[in-house]
Amino acid sequence: MTHPLLEAKNISKAFYHPSKVDIFKDICLKVCAGDSVAIVGRSGEGKSTLLQILGTLEEPCQGVLSIAGEPVQAGNRSRLRNTKIGFVFQSFHLLEDYTALENVLMPARIARQPIGKGSAAEERALMLLDKVGLADRAYFHTKLLSGGEKQRVALARAMCNDPSLILADEPSGNLDSQTAQLIHDILLDFTQHPQKALILVTHDRELAQLCSQQYELRHGHLQLV
Ligand SMILES: Nc1ncnc2c1ncn2[C@@H]1O[C@H](COP(=O)(O)OP(=O)(O)OP(=O)(O)O)[C@@H](O)[C@H]1O
Ligand SMILES: [Mg+2]
Repeated sequence: MTHPLLEAKNISKAFYHPSKVDIFKDICLKVCAGDSVAIVGRSGEGKSTLLQILGTLEEPCQGVLSIAGEPVQAGNRSRLRNTKIGFVFQSFHLLEDYTALENVLMPARIARQPIGKGSAAEERALMLLDKVGLADRAYFHTKLLSGGEKQRVALARAMCNDPSLILADEPSGNLDSQTAQLIHDILLDFTQHPQKALILVTHDRELAQLCSQQYELRHGHLQLV
């Protein structure tokens, strides 16, 4: 039996400091190979929080998240995150004093793969930087890069370990329309490969409509649009 790549069952989240805020309740989502899922919603509705939970980066208050059929628990969380998920953060989270190449290689380093000169991981990272149009910035410290360039390094890093799921939080928010198109093409092409799926948060209705499923997060509920 093949499992969904990701399944969320009745996920709820509230924050308690500085005061209690219920963000969402009983969210269910099933993502299978080939799916591209767009999540839209107004600022502050909880889209980034939801994506971080789906990406195992934050824990829900209630509910169960399964990745490739495995319920995420303390014992398998890091392994599942590192091997199955590529995450593009809304604010990139690059290491600014490292080069673009070193940043892209970070998931391989965490997985303890060889990443030195001539390694397969290095070749792949260079290929990914080329794919996002940054071959000539590979050896630049990321603090020297523009916002859109950082965004693209973050996307290349998300693909480093050949994940089955890419979770991207506003992946083209800082980009001109031509570069945004390149990123959209890369993301949607990703789902054309076997056993891959994409979940993205976006304010871009055009991008959302290119996805196979569109949801809106509103007043704590996730509804198909
Ligand atoms: N660690 C936290 N502690 C308390 N409140 C938080 C925390 N993180 C997020 N929030 C609150 O949760 C709400 C949802 O935040 P989130 O970043 O998920 O929204 P969003 O839908 O991604 O918004 P945007 O479109 O502006 O990026 C916000 O009102 C925010 O203030
Ligand atoms: Mg957000």
